[in-house]
Amino acid sequence: MTELRRVYIETYGCQMNVADSELMFGVLGRDGYVRTETPEDADVMLVNTCAVRDNAEQRVVGRVGELQRHKRAGGVLGVVGCMAQRLGPALLAGAPRVDLVVGPDAYRNLPELIDLACGGERLSDTEFRSWEHYEDIPALRQKGPTAFVTVQRGCDYRCTFCIVPQTRGPERSRNLADVEREVAGLVLQGTSEVTLLGQTVNSYHDGQHDFADLLRGVGGIDGLQRIRFTSPYPTDFTPRVIEAMAVTRAVCEHVHLPVQSGSDAVLRRMLRRYTIERYLEVMTQLRRAVPGITFSTDIIVGFPGETEAQFDATLSLVAAADFDDAYTFKYSVREGTPAVRLKDHVPDDVASWRLGRLVETVRANVRRKNMARIGETHEALVERPARRGTLMLGRTRGNHLVLLDLPPTAAGEYHTVRFTGTTGSTFTGSVVQPQMAVL
Ligand code: 5AD
Repeated sequence: MTELRRVYIETYGCQMNVADSELMFGVLGRDGYVRTETPEDADVMLVNTCAVRDNAEQRVVGRVGELQRHKRAGGVLGVVGCMAQRLGPALLAGAPRVDLVVGPDAYRNLPELIDLACGGERLSDTEFRSWEHYEDIPALRQKGPTAFVTVQRGCDYRCTFCIVPQTRGPERSRNLADVEREVAGLVLQGTSEVTLLGQTVNSYHDGQHDFADLLRGVGGIDGLQRIRFTSPYPTDFTPRVIEAMAVTRAVCEHVHLPVQSGSDAVLRRMLRRYTIERYLEVMTQLRRAVPGITFSTDIIVGFPGETEAQFDATLSLVAAADFDDAYTFKYSVREGTPAVRLKDHVPDDVASWRLGRLVETVRANVRRKNMARIGETHEALVERPARRGTLMLGRTRGNHLVLLDLPPTAAGEYHTVRFTGTTGSTFTGSVVQPQMAVL
C-alpha cells in the first residue's frame, strides 16, 4: 500500500459490536489504516450493525443513506455486523452505493475485500467460520480504565424470538490462557476493569475450563480490580459459578440477568429453559452468595400469544424480583426465527400500551430503590467526563452511575463516594475523605 487510508467505523447495538469494531480497527491497523472519528475525511466508512429488532435495522438504513453523501470518489462504504450477515448480498441489491457487506466471522478478510471494492467490485462475505476467534489480531481500543473482552462468540440457544444464532453462528469459547494473556496485557496498559462478553457468557467452556475457572483465572491477574460479564443465561449459574463469584474479589456485585417475561407460558413459547420459580431461585442463590448484589434485566412485551394476564405476570415479576434496572422492548418479528410461525400476534397498539405500563412500573421501582440508597457509600471507578457539564462519571461495583466533582485527570482513579442525590436513575455523589488516623 502506498498511502495511509483513513477508516471510520460507526457502531450500533450491543457491547460485542463495540468490541468487534475495536477488532476491525486492529485488523485494518495491521494493514496500514488509521482511525478517523468523522465520516467526512474517511476513505473507508463501515457501519457495524445490529439485527435484533427492526427499529435497529431501520436506523441503520437511514444512516447508510446519510453516509453515502460523504462517500468520496474511490471511497468505500461497507455494512458489517449482524444486519450484514442477515441480509447478505440482498443488501447490496437494495443499496446501490454500498460496496461491501461483511458478517461477524469475516472481519479478517476486510483489507482484501476493501482493496477489491476500491477496484470497483461490490461484494459480500457472510460465510460462518466457527473456528474464528481472531486470536492473532490485537484489538485497537480507546485507552481507558475499562475494556471489553470477548470470551465466547456465537450462540447455541434457540430462543424463538432471537436472530442472533443466525447472525453469529454456533457457540465457541476462547481458550482460558488466551483470555488471561489478553487481560494481563490490558492491565499493563492501565486497564483495571474488564467486561467479559459472550451471548450466553456463563455457558463459557473451552473444552477444559468452565466459566467458574474463567472468573477465578481472570480474577487472579495482578492489578485487575474489577470483572463484569454480560450476558449470562439464568440456568447456567451452576453452583461452581456462583461459588467462583463469591470468592473472586474482583467480580463485581452486579448481574445483568435477562428474564424476557414474567409468565411461564410465554417463557415456554420463547423456548427459555426456566420457569419464573427457577429464575427467582437463581436470584436468591446469587443474593445469598454475593451480599449487596444488584440485578438488571431485559424484558420483551407483546410476544405472540401474550395475554393481558400474562403481561400482568411480567408486571408482578418486576416487583417480586426487585430489579435495580431493566431494558424493555416491544417484540419485533425477525424473519428466520421460529417465532415467526407463532399465531396470535399482539396488535401493535396493545404492545405499545404494555411497553408504556412496564416502563412506568420499572421506573417507579428503580426510583424507590435509588432514593433509599441516598447516603450510602460505595467504591466508584472514575470512567470519563460526563456528557454534559464539567462533572466526571463514576461507576460503582453495583453498576450505579454517579456524577462526581473531580478533574478530568481523575479518570481511572478509585474513590470512596457517598450518594448525595438521585435523578431516579443516576446519582450525584461526593468523594469521602479518608479518615485521618487518630494518634
Ligand atoms: N424483539 C424484541 N426484543 C428482542 N430481543 C432480542 N430479540 C428480540 C426481538 N425479536 C431483546 C431481548 C434480548 C435483548 C438483547 O434484546 O430482550 O435480551
